[in-house]
Amino acid sequence: MRLRTVFLLAAGLASAALGQTNSTSFNLATQNALRACTLLQNSLGSDIVQFSGAEYLAGAENAWSLFNTENRPPCIVFPRNATHVQVAMAAIFHNKIRYAVQAGGHSAMTGWNTVADGILIFFSHMQNVTYDAVSDTITLQPGIHWGDALQQLSPLGVAPLGGRLGDIGTGLLLGGGLSYLAGEFGFSSNSYVELDVVLVTGQLVTANATNQYADLFRALKGGANRFGIVTRYKVQAVHVGTESDKNFFGGLIMYPNSSSEALINATANYVQTVNDTKASILMAFTNTLNGTEIVGSHILTLFYHGSSLPPSIFGEFLSIPSTFSEIGPVSYIDANSILGSGATRGFGQLFGASAFKGGAVAQYTNAFSAWTQYTQTIKSAVFGTVLAFTPIIDAQTLAGQANGGNLMDPPRGNYAAVQIQSQMTMGVLTLPAFVQTARTKLFSQIPRSPGLPLYINECDAGQDVFATYGRFAELRQTYAKYDPLRFNVRFTQGPIGL
Ligand SMILES: Cc1cc2nc3c(=O)[nH]c(=O)nc-3n(C[C@H](O)[C@H](O)[C@H](O)COP(=O)(O)OP(=O)(O)OC[C@H]3O[C@@H](n4cnc5c(N)ncnc54)[C@H](O)[C@@H]3O)c2cc1C
Ligand SMILES: *[C@@H]1O[C@H](CO)[C@@H](O)[C@H](O)[C@H]1NC(C)=O
Ligand SMILES: *[C@@H]1O[C@H](CO)[C@@H](O)[C@H](O)[C@H]1NC(C)=O
Ligand SMILES: *[C@@H]1O[C@H](CO)[C@@H](O)[C@H](O)[C@H]1NC(C)=O
Ligand SMILES: *[C@@H]1O[C@H](CO)[C@@H](O)[C@H](O)[C@H]1NC(C)=O
Ligand SMILES: *[C@@H]1O[C@H](CO)[C@@H](O)[C@H](O)[C@H]1NC(C)=O
Ligand SMILES: *[C@@H]1O[C@H](CO)[C@@H](O)[C@H](O)[C@H]1NC(C)=O
Ligand SMILES: *[C@@H]1O[C@H](CO)[C@@H](O)[C@H](O)[C@H]1NC(C)=O
Ligand SMILES: *[C@@H]1O[C@H](CO)[C@@H](O)[C@H](O)[C@H]1NC(C)=O
Repeated sequence: MRLRTVFLLAAGLASAALGQTNSTSFNLATQNALRACTLLQNSLGSDIVQFSGAEYLAGAENAWSLFNTENRPPCIVFPRNATHVQVAMAAIFHNKIRYAVQAGGHSAMTGWNTVADGILIFFSHMQNVTYDAVSDTITLQPGIHWGDALQQLSPLGVAPLGGRLGDIGTGLLLGGGLSYLAGEFGFSSNSYVELDVVLVTGQLVTANATNQYADLFRALKGGANRFGIVTRYKVQAVHVGTESDKNFFGGLIMYPNSSSEALINATANYVQTVNDTKASILMAFTNTLNGTEIVGSHILTLFYHGSSLPPSIFGEFLSIPSTFSEIGPVSYIDANSILGSGATRGFGQLFGASAFKGGAVAQYTNAFSAWTQYTQTIKSAVFGTVLAFTPIIDAQTLAGQANGGNLMDPPRGNYAAVQIQSQMTMGVLTLPAFVQTARTKLFSQIPRSPGLPLYINECDAGQDVFATYGRFAELRQTYAKYDPLRFNVRFTQGPIGL
């Protein structure tokens, strides 16, 4: 009786959304998912497997990109521990159900953290973070957001390597991870010590750098969501100090558009010359719509893990005319809050990636022009766009290699991860075709420098990022080993090219 009621209720809910979905796929995929959901609810209970209600809705609508908030999955699984993920994944695998996983929800790739006709696994009840002083490691459950992790660990003076904004979640690790400490320690995922992973079949394994799952361990540093569901991350702690220890120096500078040429030059020069492990910048050129007028305003965050900003590194940026500047001694938490938390919702979001070596100013100037033209072309559809550069210095690559390496395996020498963000007009749920056309053109105008890996966390879903990895062949081999039926490629959205 109870099962039947639940099924009808859920079917009713799902058919309410039917107007927007493909009815053929509703009949096949959604009905299968509903059946699996019902069985799962029977075994895991109605707190963990939900078909409707306030928590269900909050989960379905949580994603940062508005494009990812529309789907109403037949059910959402809210695991409390790894066993629940195992049970859900086994059911998904055996019944051939579509699925998606959501941690912090910040993917800008449409469909990667949500699903219409399958099961969403949502980690909001797994947000613990603990520090173990004996092993000097931090254990993170996948649902924690970096800001909460930093806040909870700050009294102990330690931090995990994460990102640069508080609202972002641990999915960042699976794509690599760029932080203000990357120069010293490599990509954030290079700090992995041990991972619990629910494989596609539902089997739970613990992977580390030397055991029988060492290949899986490496693949999860850049392999994104393709290799399994991580239910526990144990990572090395970084001793950044407490909130009152101001162990970093730097902050934020805003520049008018008239400074853009000088900023482009300074960015290209920084990428060419700086190889100091303690230095870090994020240069974000922004175009925002004010009515029909595009306003250019550019934001630099700059930090040195020390007590001042060495002029030899930051002098060029510091001498460029600015409109606002806030620089001084800061804690690691301060640094990670300087751009806000990134939590603002309500906009369809899209990313795209390139990667530039240092020095060739023309490549940077060209990207700025192409991006300016791009914003002009799509201005009727957007709130704003960003062209951002994160230098990845040679020392970062070496630190990553010294710490077990990763399959992105960038070549030696500095480069910049280049990110294009497009934020649609607030509330707009569909992507106009002319925006997609303009994006495709833009990506073709700003190709990566030969040999450089693209950054998967900030790519466009259509970019073949894995093929740019230095150890792509190994990634493919490892995928074939852990998912021989290619279930994940077929049943969950994510990076292409495996
Ligand atoms: C405002 C903003 C600022 C950003 N700043 C930075 C930055 O400073 N540095 C940086 O490196 N990146 C940054 N990013 C990019 C960020 O790394 C990606 O958006 C990342 O995917 C976010 O992870 P999440 O957990 O928040 O997102 P989610 O969308 O929840 O997850 C991202 C992907 O990983 C999958 N996934 C998540 N958890 C698991 C799991 N446990 N097992 C298997 N698959 C899983 C999801 O299915 C999805 O495909 C930023 C993004 C935004 C929007
Ligand atoms: C609907 O989905 C089915 C199965 O996924 C697919 O074959 C079909 O082409 C889709 N139809 C439309 C109109 O999108
Ligand atoms: C997870 O929780 C369930 C209770 O819902 C319990 O039976 C199971 O043993 C737990 N698993 C782990 C790994 O703690
Ligand atoms: C998570 O934290 C809660 C509250 O402190 C605690 O009860 C629970 O046991 C913790 N779970 C794990 C897996 O550490
Ligand atoms: C990896 O785990 C195995 C047990 O599976 C353990 O013996 C080994 O010491 C661990 N290696 C590292 C580097 O932690
Ligand atoms: C930027 O660099 C180019 C090429 O090196 C040079 O011609 C130009 O004068 C520079 N512009 C500024 C504002 O520094
Ligand atoms: C936006 O436009 C209004 C009116 O045209 C103007 O007063 C305001 O200064 C502009 N804002 C910015 C940030 O340029
Ligand atoms: C910013 O300045 C550049 C020239 O340096 C110009 O090409 C571009 O159109 C300007 N952008 C805006 C939004 O004014
Ligand atoms: C960058 O710095 C590291 C030391 O931190 C050094 O080993 C490496 O050779 C440097 N690379 C270049 C290109 O100077």
